[in-house]
Amino acid sequence: GGEEDLVVRPPVVTVMGHVDHGKTKLLDALRSANVVDKEAGGITQHIGAYQVTTDVDDNERRITFIDTPGHEAFTAMRARGAQATDIAILVVAANDGVMPQTVEALNHAKAAGVPIVVAVNKIDLPEADPTKVRGQMAEYGLVPEEYGGDTMFVDVSAKSELNLDRLLEAVVLTADASLDLRANPTQDAQGLVVEAHLDRGRGPVATVLVQRGTLRVGDSIVAGPAYGRVRAMLDEHGDNIEEADPSRPAMVLGLNAAPGAGQNFIVVEDDRMARQIAEKREARERAAMQAKRRV
Ligand code: GTP
Ligand code: NA
Ligand code: MG
Repeated sequence: GGEEDLVVRPPVVTVMGHVDHGKTKLLDALRSANVVDKEAGGITQHIGAYQVTTDVDDNERRITFIDTPGHEAFTAMRARGAQATDIAILVVAANDGVMPQTVEALNHAKAAGVPIVVAVNKIDLPEADPTKVRGQMAEYGLVPEEYGGDTMFVDVSAKSELNLDRLLEAVVLTADASLDLRANPTQDAQGLVVEAHLDRGRGPVATVLVQRGTLRVGDSIVAGPAYGRVRAMLDEHGDNIEEADPSRPAMVLGLNAAPGAGQNFIVVEDDRMARQIAEKREARERAAMQAKRRV
């Protein structure tokens, strides 16, 4: 596929910030702010990534969010973020202001060359001081647009669900202004494992993010040292989907084991090929581990 096969894909957003500044609450609120489907089923709780659709200037725009729980945020960003994240939302609690992990997150995003949108959270609190947060962030080089800089700041309350549409809009505007997000949907799919677990009823379940190509039910895949044929795919609402295009997260059923987060997956010709590649990878990992033990 050449340049002509590239089509626009949604931005992939990682939410980062200091402990307890409201990352998870914000992700939950954004998910329910999804204008297309307000429903959140039981299974939704377990997915590590989801897509929302929002209206910007009368256009329907999709955004993919990757959930990075608590302290895993930085390792996750390192493991898969540098490859997968297009935009970072940096959450700063307006009552606390800039804290050590705020700065750490900021530095990681900068090092990865990822544009940052600042969500000044918890503005429902009486002690919230969003002006102070802007001043502090400017000292770290993130100068708010309203001060003549080029970083978008949005005051939000994940708790009161305030200004979430403005935050989504800021993400879309940042993507349009500074990123060329295109991928070829026609080639065989490849992407990343966001998380995986062993489900009692379904067996290994992997949440994957498709980065290129289109993943389809029936495809033979290798994901890290795991392999299998995609038996079924579910979206963030737990609904069955037949295919997943670039930037779409999907829960994949049919692997023989749960691969680690951050591993790559690829579609291969058939089951035999998938098994061969997976076995080679496993042997290589085993050898590397033995070599490490000898040192
Ligand atoms: P870690 O994953 O542990 O780093 O925390 P987090 O950043 O995901 O924070 P979390 O979403 O768990 O929220 C921490 C606490 O802040 C919880 O008690 C939330 O209810 C509260 N909280 C989050 N957002 C808001 C907000 O907008 N306003 C208020 N008042 N409280 C909030
Ligand atoms: Na927390
Ligand atoms: Mg959290």
